Amino acid sequence: MVGFDGHRGWAYYLAVSPGHRKQSYGRALMQEAERLLMERGCPKLNLLVRSSNAEVVEFYRKLGYVQDEALSLGKRLIHDQTPNSSSYGRAGSIASNNAPVRARHTTKR
Ligand SMILES: CC(C)(COP(=O)(O)OP(=O)(O)OC[C@H]1O[C@@H](n2cnc3c(N)ncnc32)[C@H](O)[C@@H]1OP(=O)(O)O)[C@@H](O)C(=O)NCCC(=O)NCCS
Repeated sequence: MVGFDGHRGWAYYLAVSPGHRKQSYGRALMQEAERLLMERGCPKLNLLVRSSNAEVVEFYRKLGYVQDEALSLGKRLIHDQTPNSSSYGRAGSIASNNAPVRARHTTKR
């Protein structure tokens, strides 16, 4: 998943099926992401990798990515309470997890 927020590009959830890894598919996907962003005038692509995921850090280093001198800060606005959701299912759980908003509208009536 790749997006351009008008300032930076961001990439999320890159994955290659285990049986097809180390055949340059990951590199090709990232190259295509970079091409699409450059086409839109995006000057820099950012992405987050868990610091414990040394293998993926090495993959990105091979593609020319370097660690920025910046801290990544986050604040959860909607609790991730779907017990069986993988990180690949989070977008769906956030989109459907709007119960607090509905409750607030109900009490206003
Ligand atoms: C990370 C991932 C996408 C790499 O895909 P891939 O198709 O295997 O990568 P490529 O074959 O294009 O490899 C490109 C380069 O990275 C290197 N590389 C790939 N996986 C690596 C690993 N696990 N450890 C070290 N180097 C690695 C390759 O050797 C290659 O280097 P080279 O050009 O010197 O030969 C894949 O391992 C994956 O899906 N991992 C699980 C999901 C994940 O954690 N995604 C990241 C979310 S932030």
